[in-house]
Amino acid sequence: MFIDKQIFGAPLAGITDKPFRKMVRMFAPSVLLYTEMISCHSLVEGHKNCLRNFDRYDDEGNIGAQIFGADVNLMAEAAKILQDAGAAWIDINMGCPVPKVATRSGAGAHLMRDHKLAGKIMGSVVKAVDIPVSIKTRLGWDEEHKNWQDLIRVAIDNGISFAALHGRTRAQLYLGQSNLPQKPDLKIPLIANGDIKNKDDVQYAFGLGYDGVMIGRALLGKPWILGELGGFCKKPDNVGTVVLQHLDLMLEYYGNKNAIQMFRKHAAWYSTGMPNSAEFRIKVNQMDNESVLKSAIREFWGC
Ligand SMILES: Cc1cc2nc3c(=O)[nH]c(=O)nc-3n(C[C@H](O)[C@H](O)[C@H](O)COP(=O)(O)O)c2cc1C
Repeated sequence: MFIDKQIFGAPLAGITDKPFRKMVRMFAPSVLLYTEMISCHSLVEGHKNCLRNFDRYDDEGNIGAQIFGADVNLMAEAAKILQDAGAAWIDINMGCPVPKVATRSGAGAHLMRDHKLAGKIMGSVVKAVDIPVSIKTRLGWDEEHKNWQDLIRVAIDNGISFAALHGRTRAQLYLGQSNLPQKPDLKIPLIANGDIKNKDDVQYAFGLGYDGVMIGRALLGKPWILGELGGFCKKPDNVGTVVLQHLDLMLEYYGNKNAIQMFRKHAAWYSTGMPNSAEFRIKVNQMDNESVLKSAIREFWGC
């Protein structure tokens, strides 16, 4: 599954759902994508929306299911459920900075502070499944504790197949510049993540020795970007058609009312930087009718 210089789409909660992944794969069919992060508690306890985070199209290619949690046994159980549901690999979130995850639940970025627990979770997940297991982490908790190399060593000792490194600390959240270090010699592939937006950024990461790159926010409003960076496609001539296709997939998947509300953020991202985009966004945020929304999109993009 993993090939050298692989391009990944990053897990993005609230964004990398089934319709969005379908859009990305229209431009880059074989690219490796992640789900949004899935709570081991919600999954194992059978929350109604949670397996939906892993819902996929029958023809969907490689997909990594990302789980988060601090309970060793529940994490292993969640991994098994996702393996049975068709995940190509399991990813363990060890970088999420939000307080609900990292401080109140002892999961996500907290595991960068508790390598013993991180090791136990990795070991039990690896043992529970037959598919590869990866981790996604950051440089460390804060500037004084940039101990990612220690965590990667724990990962290697526990059978992790590859890791992704976001070049910020937990304290930085998403602020400031991502600052990836030179990749040291490691027994597993290391994927570069953070502020990678174009071909120069990709080349820069490969120049630092990384084995792959992971693109997150550069995907917003540009589902073609992985295809463009991988050399599979160019930016589409008519973005309006892409926007309408995305909306149709969301309407089909979420139903009219939810889809229209959820699509507002995508409409904003698609229109970023275009003339009159602020007016367009204000208009779209007030619309709750499918045909009115589609007319506004056609008018804005002239399609
Ligand atoms: C809205 C949003 C949601 C995110 N959701 C997740 C998530 O579910 N799991 C995860 O590991 N990281 C998540 N991240 C972090 C990204 O995967 C990525 O590490 C980060 O955005 C840096 O990469 P970028 O500069 O390419 O965006 C999220 C980031 C954003 C902005």
